[in-house]
Amino acid sequence: MYNIAIIPGDGIGPEVMAAALELLDSLDIQFNFKKAHAGNRCFRKTGTTIPDETIKIALQADATLFGAVTTVPGQKSAIITLRKALDLYANIRPVKSYPGVRSLYSDLDLVIIRENTEGLYSGIEEYTEEGATALRVITRHSSRRICEFAFDYAKSNHRSKLTAVHKANVLKKTDGIFRDAFYSISQDYPDIEAEDRYVDAMAMFMVTKPQQFNVIVTTNLFGDILSDEGAGLVGGLGLTPSANIGEKKGLFEPVHGSGPDIAGKGISNPSAMILSAVMMLKYLKEYREAIKLEEALKEVLKEGRKITPDLGGKAKTMEMVGEIKGKLGKK
Ligand code: NAI
Ligand code: MG
Repeated sequence: MYNIAIIPGDGIGPEVMAAALELLDSLDIQFNFKKAHAGNRCFRKTGTTIPDETIKIALQADATLFGAVTTVPGQKSAIITLRKALDLYANIRPVKSYPGVRSLYSDLDLVIIRENTEGLYSGIEEYTEEGATALRVITRHSSRRICEFAFDYAKSNHRSKLTAVHKANVLKKTDGIFRDAFYSISQDYPDIEAEDRYVDAMAMFMVTKPQQFNVIVTTNLFGDILSDEGAGLVGGLGLTPSANIGEKKGLFEPVHGSGPDIAGKGISNPSAMILSAVMMLKYLKEYREAIKLEEALKEVLKEGRKITPDLGGKAKTMEMVGEIKGKLGKK
């Protein structure tokens, strides 16, 4: 029995979450789901985007599933607050092609690992006379921690190459520290090929020849941008999941936001949320059920009969879920 914190959020968050929960409920695992609130709708009800109670529920859970929230300028970011409170320093974003899905590449299987706690997202900004300044904080500790995590991830997932992405030719001190940490840790992993690229060149290679990459590790902002680029290579935001991992906790969420343009229509693609649940199952070491769920989704994508409009189909979210459930029943 696992205790799972469920934070549906708002917009299409609750729709895709309902889809994932229905499928998790039909697996051979017992879950105790505990719902918690966050986001803009929560703000309007409670005056905060992320109540203490939500953080408490996430801290007590074995893992957390997060849908999506609408973020309003000036409000505290619920997801960044959670990442900090649970010390989720590693963000894992797979870029994987699925047969049947229209995409630029049909043969990609790479993973981007992004540092999640510092860099340009440290949130240290101030107004100056001329405008404003943001501080890009890079510490030795966090650089080593994320590089160690990435090498470890590569090793335990039988991936043979790790690419560090930075801009140390310009950001000599901050990214110099990150690059040095990467090569120092690489000494402990002789079986994994270690290389580094500048972020601008990387942005191009990911479009022209992404197959040459296997696992990528990078700082916060570069990772954010490259992973959305990655999503674009394999069929868009409706399909890309992510994991936020710390020493003790894990939070799993689709890369997409609250989809205000399609919210309430029941046509959101549940795949990214389902694949986030698959990542959670693997984190809980429930590999058999994880693969079962991913395979069922894969079959539905490949057949293309019951898929949502963003994938070129006509199905509603819950019709697609019904189809996946049917496949699960046969496994
Ligand atoms: P978005 O990801 O919500 O939407 C971008 C486009 O992709 C829209 O056309 C949307 O309809 C489509 N899309 C996204 N997910 C989809 C799905 N599952 N199925 C089908 N189509 C899908 O990004 P946008 O519009 O930039 O942001 C909307 C709100 O979400 C903003 O308030 C933003 O701050 C917030 N946001 C929240 C995130 C989170 O909760 N972690 C992450 C990114 C954005
Ligand atoms: Mg992003």
